[in-house]
Amino acid sequence: MKVTIVGAGNVGATCADVIAYRGIASEVVLLDIKEGFAEGKAMDIMQCATTTGFNTRVIGSTNDYTKTANSDVVVITSGIPRKPGMTREELIGINAGIVKSVADNVLRHSPEAIIVVVSNPMDTMTYLTLKATGLPKHRVIGMGGALDSSRFKYFLSQALEKPGNDVQGMVIGGHGDKTMIPLTRIASYNGSPVSQFLSQDVLDKVAADTMVGGATLTGLLGTSAWYAPGASVAYLVDSILNDQRKMIPCSVMLDGEYGQSDICIGVPCIIGRKGLVEIVDVNLDDKEKDLFAKSADAVRNMNADLQSVLA
Ligand code: NAI
Ligand code: 2OP
Repeated sequence: MKVTIVGAGNVGATCADVIAYRGIASEVVLLDIKEGFAEGKAMDIMQCATTTGFNTRVIGSTNDYTKTANSDVVVITSGIPRKPGMTREELIGINAGIVKSVADNVLRHSPEAIIVVVSNPMDTMTYLTLKATGLPKHRVIGMGGALDSSRFKYFLSQALEKPGNDVQGMVIGGHGDKTMIPLTRIASYNGSPVSQFLSQDVLDKVAADTMVGGATLTGLLGTSAWYAPGASVAYLVDSILNDQRKMIPCSVMLDGEYGQSDICIGVPCIIGRKGLVEIVDVNLDDKEKDLFAKSADAVRNMNADLQSVLA
């Protein structure tokens, strides 16, 4: 099984490292436009093979897409972060140009690949990838909900003072500080509602901390996070390549589900070898439905900035 990761920066390289370390794929190609950068990252990761004991082959490429040929999954992490003085429209315009040309290049060499979009603003970049490539919706999946859910479960586990693996929870909606929706009502500690153990005030704080989870790390690190994002992409890739059919909140094209159409936004998905297998209806209550509709409005508003790129 072969995975290409475009963008060998913080998130892309971490994802390659986790995929190799866990033996999720037999081959990983890291590709970047910066001369020698992807080759360097690949070599550094490969020099762990004998000490950590993996057999995945990781290779790097400076913008040579022939090396990515016949990939089963392609992850797009290439893009630039927002710079001082730059408007959101400018950022979207630049990243949209990058994501669109990357998607064209990868499909030329891997026409059957499932595409995982990570570059921000992720929901909008996922929508762009679908529209620009014309791929069926099961083959374009945005990663954001897996990360937001892992942060949600982390904050719940801290509040409960219990191990994270004993906690279940999901975040749906847009991948943004104001658009994501941590579903505290259905979060559980080994099957029991977390509300049995935590007060509403504490649950509200867990939700608020989750929503600014990315921004908090950006403040601490000076750039956005990469360990949990890279691991979350690898988790999603594992479910695709190994047909695990895990339920993972992902940004996918909606066609009436959750009352929305013509938008990519985070909903619970079954993810398997064909990519999106099924969208799961988790029966939101009225308050959650209202939050989801507002989140969709915000994502749709962002998508409007794509008009010139898609024209
Ligand atoms: P980074 O700056 O460390 O890496 C980005 C890499 O993309 C750079 O190495 C750059 O040279 C490369 N690149 C730029 N244009 C390219 C092109 N046309 N072709 C190939 N490579 C190209 O950034 P980082 O931290 O890895 O983040 C990557 C993206 O992922 C950002 O847009 C970030 O906002 C987003 N992100 C999304 C998350 C999510 O949950 N969806 C979580 C974390 C980051
Ligand atoms: C994150 O959530 C910024 O999307 C990035 O860490």
